[in-house]
Amino acid sequence: MDAQPTAPVPPPGCPAHHTGGRVPLHGPEFAADPQAYYSYLRHYGPTAPVELAPGVEATLVTDYGFALQLLQDSGSFRKDARRWRHFNEGKIAPDSPVAPVLAYRPNCMFSDGAEHLRLRQAVTDSMARVDSRRLSQSTEQVSNYLISQFGSRGSADLLGDYAKQLPLFVFNELFGCPADIGDRIVFGITGMFDGVNAEQAMGVLFGAVGELVALKRAKPGDDVPSWMMQHQAKLTDEEMVHQIALLMVGGNEPLRNLIGNTLHRLLTHDAYAHQGGLIDEAIDDTLWENPPMQNLAPHYPASDMEFAGQKLQAGDLVLVSFAAANTGPALTAARQAGSNRAHLAWSAGPHACPSKEPARQITVTAIENLLNKLPDVELAVPTESLTWRPGPFNRGLAVLPAKFTPVQPVRRPAAPVRTEAPVRQEQAPTGGRGERSGVWSQFLNWLTR
Ligand code: HEM
Repeated sequence: MDAQPTAPVPPPGCPAHHTGGRVPLHGPEFAADPQAYYSYLRHYGPTAPVELAPGVEATLVTDYGFALQLLQDSGSFRKDARRWRHFNEGKIAPDSPVAPVLAYRPNCMFSDGAEHLRLRQAVTDSMARVDSRRLSQSTEQVSNYLISQFGSRGSADLLGDYAKQLPLFVFNELFGCPADIGDRIVFGITGMFDGVNAEQAMGVLFGAVGELVALKRAKPGDDVPSWMMQHQAKLTDEEMVHQIALLMVGGNEPLRNLIGNTLHRLLTHDAYAHQGGLIDEAIDDTLWENPPMQNLAPHYPASDMEFAGQKLQAGDLVLVSFAAANTGPALTAARQAGSNRAHLAWSAGPHACPSKEPARQITVTAIENLLNKLPDVELAVPTESLTWRPGPFNRGLAVLPAKFTPVQPVRRPAAPVRTEAPVRQEQAPTGGRGERSGVWSQFLNWLTR
């Protein structure tokens, strides 16, 4: 380990200068260069004191070995956020921007032991029923649709017009969403992450997912929610709602970043040009060096303990920095020497991402189809002008402006996709941005044109 006894010097512009040594992982400086922060944090040793949002303190594990140790030790480190000491002591504002990610919900991500196994098994068994050919077809179809919306312009924001929308549409298809429910799910998830009115957006999302669960109980289909409710785990309606919301939110956000960060890498690194298998390689390099979830895996010590030379109290918030662990000097050297040690972009241990394969398949298809349709696509602005969204958890671009030779819109769907009940616009949410945009409805209309 590279711990040093002297106080580390924060990187230029780092507001750690002003917070008594607790390093803030929020704000534009962190978003502009997180790796400078991780280099700095490593000087504290394997763990470092950080601030996730104003007043939200945490310990961040930056060392690969200790990260693995924590992730695999579910006896000492628990996931149930009802153990969070500072939250229980009233130190976390209910409207804190990190509350939607960290606050307890009855789903597999926040459960431990036998309860975790039961809830997770329902996810893994249901996701395992997704047919990979159908997944590729529907991803290609959504990709064709999105390209048809901007292809003739010769320019697009590959983030807002493509990477952000594609997973939402693919999920709506996978989850058998009728038009009105799908529109509100898109509105809810987009609003949650764009921070326009996160609380209202979450209300819309949970309302729509609740309706989806009721619909599938009454009329099961060939889709993930129906498979999950038929599972031997016998999920209650409340558990169904929270598990579906976890899959949709927890799947969409990192997928958008994986597609966006990989496209960014392909468009900014000449090394990938003219190489066979370039997409797979670019995805792997992205997962190592610029992972979509950079800091997550919140855990709480079950009792007072010492970990990596650091005293922790029961219920302290401890997170893992996948991005720092992946890029530490020891691991980088091992990777260059051909070591087969795995990166942590999907986390590890009992709570590791259960959807690596479908996530990768969606990403490969989305990027492959885009590059096939727009073979001369290139960045439309200088690399240095690109900005990244702030926040401690995700790593994703704000926009990715690109230009290309204009193409004719793809008019005919590549393959049939199931569409559910008819559009019922009167059930769209009222009083919010996007309430009548009905982007999922527009896609369904395009399919049946
Ligand atoms: C099809 C898309 C995806 C779905 C449905 C999905 C679903 C999930 C679920 C349900 C969990 C919680 C598992 C548990 O607690 O037992 C999880 C965890 C996780 N996923 Fe995914 N995921 C998707 C895509 C991704 C992508 C693209 C990444 C990034 C490369 C990612 C990274 C992670 C990580 C790091 C965790 C651990 C989070 C934590 O412990 O706090 N996921 N995922």
